[in-house]
Amino acid sequence: MNVSDLLPLAIDIAREAGALAARRRSEGVAIAATKSAIADIVTEADREVESFIRARLQAERPDDGFLGEESGAGADTTGITWVVDPIDGTVNYAYGIPSYAVSIAAVSASADPETWVNEIGVVFNPMSGELFHATRGGGAWLGGTRLQMNSEPGGAGALLATGFGYDPTTHAAALERLARVMPLARDIRRIGAASLDLAFVAAGRLDAYYERGLHPWDHAAGALLVSEAGGRVGGSPGGRPGRDMTIAAGSGFFDRLAAAIMS
Ligand code: IPD
Repeated sequence: MNVSDLLPLAIDIAREAGALAARRRSEGVAIAATKSAIADIVTEADREVESFIRARLQAERPDDGFLGEESGAGADTTGITWVVDPIDGTVNYAYGIPSYAVSIAAVSASADPETWVNEIGVVFNPMSGELFHATRGGGAWLGGTRLQMNSEPGGAGALLATGFGYDPTTHAAALERLARVMPLARDIRRIGAASLDLAFVAAGRLDAYYERGLHPWDHAAGALLVSEAGGRVGGSPGGRPGRDMTIAAGSGFFDRLAAAIMS
């Protein structure tokens, strides 16, 4: 079996989970707890949607691993692990801003996450109805349209997106970084859902995105969208995307942006 054969399952589950999240939102939402910081919140819906996704995967793929934002990890015996953010953009969700997504990735996993290979990425925004998907070697897609990024931003500057992470001790450095990056930018966005930031880079709606402090469930699906759309995704110099830094951009722009971010 090719891992990409599991794409229809991932898409079905993302759509069902997104519908559940939207239904719970329409019934009203309460913040259940704050986690690492005041902005790092979880709602009952995050937990319920993750349990739903986990149960669906468990029923179909009982021996695969699972890594979810809300419920932690389960080991695999198949070499495949599902990396899931049930509601990426929880703050938007809680405030009724319609920019949140279910993010589901399947990775070929070994014990060392540094060697994981993203195989499938699905990002579904139930509010817009947009579903982005990618498989390794199979391209990135928005619905039935194949995505192909430009290598360089068109025109006079880049439309950039970023996020500020939840750790308040990193915020001063984030603002200094932003000041270094601004000269490259036409304008800046803070969309509030990393998976959508990455999907929008893949779709050419943003020229680039960077953020410090992301977890695998924030970037695994979106990173595959960007690389399969012909873009580049990385972290601190030469590294993989991760907690230290995640950068996504066209291949001709990536190094210039990375140099401004890291200088
Ligand atoms: C968060 C969002 C946000 C980003 C944070 C993420 P969550 O995910 O993607 O845009 O700035 O770093 O943790 O908590 O809403 O699933």
